[in-house]
Amino acid sequence: MSEISQAQPDYNYKVVRQFTIMTVIWGIVGMSLGVFIAAQLFAPALNFDIPWLTYSRLRPLHTNAVIFAFGGCALFATSYYIVQRTSQVRLFSDKLAAFTFWGWQAVIVAAVLTLPFGYTTSKEYAELEWPIDILIALVWVAYIINFFGTLAIRKVSHIYVANWFLGAFMLTVAVLHIGNSMALPVSFMKSYSMYAGAVDAMMQWWYGHNAVGFFLTAGFLGMMYYFVPKQAGRPVYSYRLSVVHFWALISLYIWAGPHHLHYTALPDWTQSLGMVMSVILFVPSWGGMINGIMTLSGAWHKLRTDPVL
Ligand code: HEM
Repeated sequence: MSEISQAQPDYNYKVVRQFTIMTVIWGIVGMSLGVFIAAQLFAPALNFDIPWLTYSRLRPLHTNAVIFAFGGCALFATSYYIVQRTSQVRLFSDKLAAFTFWGWQAVIVAAVLTLPFGYTTSKEYAELEWPIDILIALVWVAYIINFFGTLAIRKVSHIYVANWFLGAFMLTVAVLHIGNSMALPVSFMKSYSMYAGAVDAMMQWWYGHNAVGFFLTAGFLGMMYYFVPKQAGRPVYSYRLSVVHFWALISLYIWAGPHHLHYTALPDWTQSLGMVMSVILFVPSWGGMINGIMTLSGAWHKLRTDPVL
């Protein structure tokens, strides 16, 4: 009996493995595109006068591929792994997990099939047109249900801090994506933003800045808080600092978007607010950085021998 109660729950590693493999594949594709456009900066003739090989069309494909395909698959893989291990329970739904995997791959393939052909909303990091945006929203909501559903059926009462960061990343990205992508479709592959002028610019950089803040920062901090202590064989340097910098990051990051719009038609007070909040943001940034690095204290020697660290 005791063997049964101590046995590891039957985790869903299939979806973790699938997303991990695609992380590697999209990483190679995305960075190869980066090398290609970098080469075009040096030798523009490398577009061979073919419209869909031009810098202007492949640069957004590079950014989408490295951030959302490479980074996104890494976040899906690790969050599904972490939430199961720290909750001591299998994922809430295998079907939703499979839907998020195939749905996310479909989004990426759709990006590859549209951006080089010039279909774009022209909003940076939100270039994909409205049908793809709807698919992204559906996949994302399924992801949120699966993640929070797993937390809801967890077998341990404490919610480990990595899950706080991952949960915040998921919820905020949903709000950002849906808010910024509101548009009026005029045809299958053409739409106009619901917002106009300076308001549109403000929405766009509220999204763009916080895509970095929550997709590329909060999500990856979730990853850090699980894997760095695990690999170093040390507890998190300060659990209290992790909680304090979580709330600081969550409450401060969202205000800093206007720093992308200095000296524009945006009202001055908005620009100043964005600037001040950006300066204040150094506090949670350093909180996370210190906590991650200091978790290695007493285990620095491992950096010499452990390639993962
Ligand atoms: C082999 C590796 C890579 C190469 C050669 C490369 C190359 C490039 C080039 C040439 C640009 C355009 C710069 C410009 O328009 O001025 C760019 C932009 C960008 N890349 Fe990469 N890249 C690589 C990897 C990555 C990775 C791994 C990420 C993120 C996960 C990334 C994220 C971005 C972003 C966000 C931009 C837009 C930056 C901006 O507009 O300020 N890249 N990259």
